[in-house]
Formats: sequence, structure tokens, C-alpha cells
Amino acid sequence: GMKQRLLVVANRLPVSANRRGEDHWSLEISAGGLVSALLGVKDVDAKWIGWAGVNVPDEIGQRALTRALAEKRCIPVFLDEEIVHQYYNGYCNNILWPLFHYLGLPQEDRLATTRNFESQFNAYKRANQMFADVVYQHYQEGDVIWCHDYHLMFLPKCLKDHNINMKVGWFLHTPFPSSEIYRTLPSRSELLRSVLCADLVGFHTYDYARHFVSACTRILGLEGTPEGVEDQGRLTRVAAFPIGIDSERFKRALEITAVKRHINELTHRFAGRKVMLGVDRLDMIKGIPQKILAFEKFLEENPDWNDKVVLLQIAVPTRTDVPEYQKLTSQVHEIVGRINGRFGTLTAVPIHHLDRSLDFHALCALYAVTDVALVTSLRDGMNLVSYEYVACQGSKKGVLILSEFAGAAQSLGAGAILVNPWNITEVADSIRHALTMLPDEREKRHRHNYAHVTTHTAQDWAETFVCELNETVAEAQLRT
Ligand code: UDP
Ligand code: G6P
Repeated sequence: GMKQRLLVVANRLPVSANRRGEDHWSLEISAGGLVSALLGVKDVDAKWIGWAGVNVPDEIGQRALTRALAEKRCIPVFLDEEIVHQYYNGYCNNILWPLFHYLGLPQEDRLATTRNFESQFNAYKRANQMFADVVYQHYQEGDVIWCHDYHLMFLPKCLKDHNINMKVGWFLHTPFPSSEIYRTLPSRSELLRSVLCADLVGFHTYDYARHFVSACTRILGLEGTPEGVEDQGRLTRVAAFPIGIDSERFKRALEITAVKRHINELTHRFAGRKVMLGVDRLDMIKGIPQKILAFEKFLEENPDWNDKVVLLQIAVPTRTDVPEYQKLTSQVHEIVGRINGRFGTLTAVPIHHLDRSLDFHALCALYAVTDVALVTSLRDGMNLVSYEYVACQGSKKGVLILSEFAGAAQSLGAGAILVNPWNITEVADSIRHALTMLPDEREKRHRHNYAHVTTHTAQDWAETFVCELNETVAEAQLRT
């Protein structure tokens, strides 16, 4: 067809691979907001380039996996163990991720990270070059190349160095921190310059975009304009493109027999109790310990609620080779155990904590039956779980308690109860408010959120970004 081709490049492919034999692979949907949002984009001629989440050292395995992924329109980038260790576990998830979310490293890890910085940054650049090499192999003139997230900040430069005519966009799925935080990064200038090689740079919110432009003006001495960042007459367009979900997909799921059965089972199982829900990757940024401590405080202060409410916390395992994530797992288990020991009875415990992922249908059923969703991120680029909860609450009209530090607070702020997750007294009060809210207020709040979630979809997000990218390139060509 005449449709423009789109190459989506992200560290994480929408499917992750598990080896079942020498040349046999099984694929499962990957977790996380980036994948969910991009899976919600339809009607584009898109191919994905990324990492399948496994080490495939042999050629037979690589060939078989390449074939299996091709059916999903995916193209693998093969990263060896050492690169994954230094680039993914090290530079991406131990340095950039905490920094972009305003989280410091624990004291005992700081010096080690400082010492390893250079070798990890070099691995990061090598890894980005490996993604670029795969893009070159599949690029055709006129293609749009859309690079995603903090793993690939070096990619726009690799691509433009290779072929200045490539149309390159880059979108960040995390917050971009204040330049006062960002400027502590030893590789600060090199990364900014590389991102600026893109034609269009996108963020979830205006704040993140503004922070990025300030970093460029203060650290690189470039000029910030309402359109973006200018360097010797060349403009890099910078703008906000708030992401969304495919809300129809969630609404449709609730009509499926298996999901309805699930909903009935859950309703029966928790009859007589209010149910609160948390769904997060088990990540430091999600404020899971803070959430559980706030729930404990609520139980402490409201003994009449003790056997009438339960918190279901789904904690999806993630980045399990990074020590920080391992520590968080044991910390959370310890707190949950303590609270269940303290408030549990012979027949019921207040917290059900699951260290696992859920399939889509089970997730939708949970979203639909629960009375309150509790999102306590300490920082979060957007947070799609809050959107998904709202999309599934059409009949129940449950309450969303949402951290003011999630990007979603800017879009769902009027309908949700906004909280500072660090203030557990405030969160405990919000829990009581949510559990006792009258139907009128619930309905009004829900209506507000629902209107937003169903009209700001993943599809709109992607179309707006790609359209803006095409226009930016066309305007630049007119100027030269
Ligand atoms: N999710 C998942 N597996 C699960 C539970 C949830 O993939 O077992 C999805 C969830 O539906 C949502 C995404 O993971 O789309 C989380 O996105 P969010 O933006 O909330 O946070 P992120 O994980 O990207 O930090
Ligand atoms: C966040 C990041 C994504 C990432 C996801 C899951 O949403 O912005 O880029 O894919 O977390 O993390 P993982 O490391 O498993 O890809």
C-alpha cells in the first residue's frame, strides 16, 4: 500500500522469548507501559526492532528466534550477556532509571556506580550502535524511525550519522528530571547532543519537555524556543505527547464470557469486603512500601474496617538481576508479613501480595471488581495502570487514589483523589475517604476520568507524534 512504513525501535520487544529447545521458542507478551501503549496502536504499517529479553549465543537459536519473531512483525537485536549486564542492568536500570525518577542510589552502591560509570556508558553506546545496525539493514527511503525511551538516547545520533535523511523521532516514557538533577550525570552533554540529532523529541508532559529544554540551554548553552531547541540554525522540535491506552480493548474484554466468570468468582470470594487494588511492576518508583505502610496506618486508625477491607497487590517481577530490585522484593515481603501477622485473623488477611504477572483477562476482571485503585508512584512517567482501571470501571465507578508525582495526575487529577505518597497519614485518610465516598461523588469523579481515558487513546498519541514528525521534517526541508 501507500501507507508510510514505521520502524519502532525500543529496547523491549512486545514479546519476550523463552527457549523450549534447540530451535524452538515460545513467546509471551512483555510487561510494562511502553509495550501496552504500542500494542494499542493499530492501522499502521509498523515493524518493531528490539531485544527479546534472552541471551541467544548460538546461530541455530538466533535463526529460529528471528523466524518466530517475524510472525509478530518483530526483528531481534541480539545482545550478549556482558552487554546486557553493563548496558541494561548497569547503565539503564542502575543509573539512568533512578536518576530520571529523582531516586538516589543507596549509600553503599554510590561509589561502585561512580567507578563503573565509564565502562557502563561505553557499553550503552555499543548497545545503541547494535540497535542502529539492525535499523540500517531494514531501512527503506521514506521510513519513519521512532526511537523509544531512556535505553536508546544514543540512537538518534547513530542513525543521523549514518544517513542524515532518515526521519528520526525519539520519545521518552519516563519523566525527564529537573536540570539540577540531570546535570549530575557524567555523560550529560553527550546524551543531550545525541538526542538532539532527532528531528522530533517527545515527552509525556510539558514539565518533562521544559526540563529537557532547560538542560539543553543550561548545560549545552543552546537556545530554547517555543518550538524546541536551536543549534546554529538547526531546530530540534520538542513537544509533549501524553500517552493513552486502547480503552476499547478493555471494554471489549469485560464482555467476554471467561472474564465475566472471573468477575463472578472474585465478587463471590470477597463478598462482604471492600477490595482495594494495586498493580505495579515491583519497582522502587512505584512506592509499594509506602502504599502498604499507609494501608497499615489506615487499619490502625480504623479498627472497625479491619475485617471489611482487603488490599490486593499485584507486584510484577521486573529487572530481577539488578540488586536494588532484589532488595525491594525482600523489603516488601517483610512489611506484608508483618502487617498480615498483626491484623490477620484465622480466616482472613488484610493484604494479598502476589509476586507474579497476570494475563490480560485476569487483569481486566480485577480492574472491574475492585472498589478502589491505589497508585502511589514516587515518580512515574505517566502510569497506565490508572488509565486501565478507569476504563474497566464503567459500571462500578470505583475510586482512583493517584500519586501527584505520576504524569497521569495531570490528566486524571480532577477525578482522582491526589496524594503525596510520602505522607502516609494523608494516604490513610484518602483510603477512608475513598471507601466511604457517596455514590454521587464517585459517579462525578469517574465520569471525568472516563471521558479523558476514552478520548485520549494510544492510537491518537501515535498518530499525533508521527504526523508531527513528518511535518517537522517537511518544514526543515523548506528552510534549507
Ligand atoms: N501489566 C502487565 N502484566 C501484568 C500486570 C500489568 O504487563 O501482570 C501491564 C499493565 O496492564 C500496564 C503496564 O503493565 O499496561 C504498566 O504500565 P504503567 O505505565 O502503569 O507502568 P510501567 O510498568 O510502564 O512503569
Ligand atoms: C518502563 C519503561 C519501559 C520498559 C518497562 C518494563 O515502562 O519505560 O521502557 O519496557 O518499564 O521494563 P523492562 O526493563 O522489563 O523492559
